[in-house]
Amino acid sequence: MRTACCPGTYDPVTNGHLDIVARAAACFDRVVVAVLINPAKQPMFSLEERVAMLKEATIGMPGVEIDAFSGLLVGYAKALDVTAIVKGLRAVSDFDYELQMAQMNYRLAGVETMFMTTNPTWSYLSSSLVKDVARHGGDVSGLVPDFVAARLRERTQGRAG
Ligand code: PNS
Repeated sequence: MRTACCPGTYDPVTNGHLDIVARAAACFDRVVVAVLINPAKQPMFSLEERVAMLKEATIGMPGVEIDAFSGLLVGYAKALDVTAIVKGLRAVSDFDYELQMAQMNYRLAGVETMFMTTNPTWSYLSSSLVKDVARHGGDVSGLVPDFVAARLRERTQGRAG
């Protein structure tokens, strides 16, 4: 059984994330989407909310599971017996940090990282930008699943969507 792990903060999940998860699911038997528990960060959505949104967004994707982890990713990845960590690369600007993390993760525990090139449709998309647009009342529909856009509107504008 070949398992991929797609780690991230997912605050919140975007269509770019979902594109990578779906494509990883086409290459691996099992894809574990692992949400980072990081007490140092102040996410817009709680861990439970982020996990719940990912679960809803990945209904109908066979082989995809949602989980959460804390501490070093390689410890979690080893315990899962992953074949590879799978990450999306949007642009050259992603590459430096992703390369560093991939090399560190290999050095720490021999865990492989595989990069998927982001679908150009989503190359400009990030959770941070989506939150910023939503905070300023902009329209994020089409960038995230509809129910996530509604959650963003509720959270940022104080009204149900
Ligand atoms: O969605 P993000 O915030 O870009 O995801 C970053 C993530 C979760 C992949 C990265 O911060 C991570 O792996 N954190 C776990 C702690 C860890 O292993 N740090 C050492 C990385 S070499």
